Amino acid sequence: MASAAAEPKGPRVLVTGASGNVGAPLVEHLVAGGARVLVASREGTRAPVGAKAVRFDFEDAATHAPALEGVEKVFLLRPPAISDVKRYMLPVVRAAKDAGVRHVVFLSLLGVEKNPVMPHAHVERFILEAGLPHTFLRPSFFMQNLSTTHRDDIREHDEIFVPAGKGRTGFIDARDIAAVAARTLLEDGHEGKAYDLTGSEALTYAEVAALFTEVLGRPIRYPEPGALRFAARWYQRKHPVAFIAVMTGIYTVCRLGLAGTVTPETQTLLGRAPISMRQFIQDHQACWR
Ligand SMILES: NC(=O)c1ccc[n+]([C@@H]2O[C@H](COP(=O)([O-])OP(=O)(O)OC[C@H]3O[C@@H](n4cnc5c(N)ncnc54)[C@H](OP(=O)(O)O)[C@@H]3O)[C@@H](O)[C@H]2O)c1
Repeated sequence: MASAAAEPKGPRVLVTGASGNVGAPLVEHLVAGGARVLVASREGTRAPVGAKAVRFDFEDAATHAPALEGVEKVFLLRPPAISDVKRYMLPVVRAAKDAGVRHVVFLSLLGVEKNPVMPHAHVERFILEAGLPHTFLRPSFFMQNLSTTHRDDIREHDEIFVPAGKGRTGFIDARDIAAVAARTLLEDGHEGKAYDLTGSEALTYAEVAALFTEVLGRPIRYPEPGALRFAARWYQRKHPVAFIAVMTGIYTVCRLGLAGTVTPETQTLLGRAPISMRQFIQDHQACWR
């Protein structure tokens, strides 16, 4: 006789940014790990099998308390489009405290502790000041930027067009961040910790282009554009000036040789090597063909 699937008995976890690079694989890990997963999104109707959809909008405070009712743990991220974190993130942190949430895992940024003006630094401070038990995940640059933001340059122009000079980047695959986030949410012992998460190697964009060339089987160039050429291309594509300025800033940090940090923490936390750039390209190759 067929029996109904067992109800999950794990913690009740609200996942923000659940359709994103980190959130989507995180939901899968949490469901597989037996958590009761609430998928928070603005439309509030779509959730994968084993999870429940809930309406939640950082910009609509009326959605916060209902989404957090009965929630034990929260995976919190700052959507890239939200820059006024005091207005849109602080109320969420306070609502989590009021709802009795006992652990917040926040997706922050590598080096944030030396960069107090970054929005992520403010959110870390809001969480500390609220007295919420927390884990801060501080990842380096996502490999997924190459399959999202820079996908069309690679697919249509066979080039990686970023003003990063010869600087190295300790790229991380967002799927590894999701795997770490799942562990910190499903296991005890991660409260009060901050993890610096990178991949296992720091690559130049010329090396990344060579890996693309090998895996895709067609030449992918890295023309090493300067900041002005880069900004002009994105301006022509009608992207907002603020967005172009942020991207140029990020790649200038790399050009200056400040993005090549590699830490052992991803490997230590996952008990395996981080996903390599070659593996990332192999897994996503359809998107550049
Ligand atoms: N990219 C990098 O290299 C990098 C490196 C270090 C840290 N980070 C940080 O990682 C975070 C982004 O993570 P990600 O790449 O996984 O996210 P993502 O793919 O950019 O997705 C953003 C998520 O936020 C949701 N969202 C947007 N506005 C919302 C709102 N008003 N209310 C509720 N949900 C909203 C989106 O939902 P919809 O489906 O509704 O759009 C989506 O699920 C950022 O804070 C970024 O600074 C990024």
